[in-house]
Amino acid sequence: MSVGLPAELAFGGVRPLHGTVRLPGDKSISHRALLFAAIAHGTSSVSNLATGDDVKAMRTVLEALGVEIRDDGGEVVVVGAGFDGLREPAVVLDCGNSGTAMRVLSGVLAGRAFLSILSGDASLNQRPMRRVVEPLRAMGADVDGRAGGEYAPLAIRGGTLTGGRHDLPVASAQVKSALMMAGLQASGVTEIASPAPSRDHSERMLAALGVSVDVDGCVVRVRAGAPEPFDLEVPGDPSSAAFFVVAALITPGSDLTIESVAINPSRLGFVEVLRRMGGDIDVETVDERCGEPVGNIQVRASALTATTIAGDEVPNVQDEVPALAVAAAFADGVTEVRDAAELSLKESNRIASLAEMLAGLGVAAETRPDGLVIRGGRPRAARIASLGDHRIAMAAAVAANAVDGESTVTGWPAVASSYPEFADDLGRVTKA
Ligand code: S3P
Repeated sequence: MSVGLPAELAFGGVRPLHGTVRLPGDKSISHRALLFAAIAHGTSSVSNLATGDDVKAMRTVLEALGVEIRDDGGEVVVVGAGFDGLREPAVVLDCGNSGTAMRVLSGVLAGRAFLSILSGDASLNQRPMRRVVEPLRAMGADVDGRAGGEYAPLAIRGGTLTGGRHDLPVASAQVKSALMMAGLQASGVTEIASPAPSRDHSERMLAALGVSVDVDGCVVRVRAGAPEPFDLEVPGDPSSAAFFVVAALITPGSDLTIESVAINPSRLGFVEVLRRMGGDIDVETVDERCGEPVGNIQVRASALTATTIAGDEVPNVQDEVPALAVAAAFADGVTEVRDAAELSLKESNRIASLAEMLAGLGVAAETRPDGLVIRGGRPRAARIASLGDHRIAMAAAVAANAVDGESTVTGWPAVASSYPEFADDLGRVTKA
């Protein structure tokens, strides 16, 4: 975890958000930018990279695989030498808290004829890995892991890969992207069918970088190839923006603009949900970078009513459920989150963690195996534990910013996974 973050942080009183804010780069796009630059033939440069530990872990792993990466002012320069430029690492590849790093890299390493070991922190090493292990074995890689491949550490001896069709049991962008990475090194066509749409950054970015990617509904097809080198300014992270959007909606008197955010439709499900709840939110498109639309989001404080979040909407809001749960806590009526069992397999069991956070705030919440039922009410100041999960810490801070009295979030350093500067940026837009 990043040094310099306090063990706990106090948030006091009702502080409206106003003005404009720009956020650190999107975590999903940052992971892919570093990785795609590393497997390109040539030099790429990336600016506004996500600042959290997850993307740092991706960088460290790529360096351990022999990729030259250097800082040049505000830019990160990556000297790619193709898949063949990757070298057998002399150390265990530490993915920290990052499921994206571990799963997407497993697809890269499946095609490399050397031994590598992917490991992570206690939370990551308890998250399910069979979903990548089995299809990569079917493609021809030798992959093992704890409990027969259920959990990391994963030991991968890459091999000659063969394409084919994979029907994913869950809609997961990480698994889809892992198989796309393997497919770029395989013979024939690799076809990946998802049961519902999941975020499509790999498809968009690879296509913009000259790789032939065929998308047909929830089916993606790739053949062997590698991206061209590129220059990219990573747009702001919409999952981080979700915390500011909810904070502005529930804090009376707020009027905030978030500039230069990634507005990929597969990430904006939270805007649809919040509009349905009565949120006054405008999204304006201003640019496109590397196949990714970029825009500004304007949000004003609004009276919210309850909603139901279920079905195919869920994969598009799963990282935003902690922020949406806070909106539900302040809304009039009963909000239900259904079909969201995957939430229990995130950086913490988010079904349980959110229920605990809401109970602390004095809001009635029931857990279900596939979601939560939240009775909106009058949240009160509280002492809330992050439970080691960055998005629980930020959700708690957003709630605390909208209630009378002082609240404290304990375990604050968890925010380092995605957004170490969150409290500073929130403080900047809530200053009188
Ligand atoms: C991510 C995919 C999502 C998301 C994660 C980042 C990605 O997980 O929760 O934070 O960058 O591909 P899934 O693999 O469950 O879709």
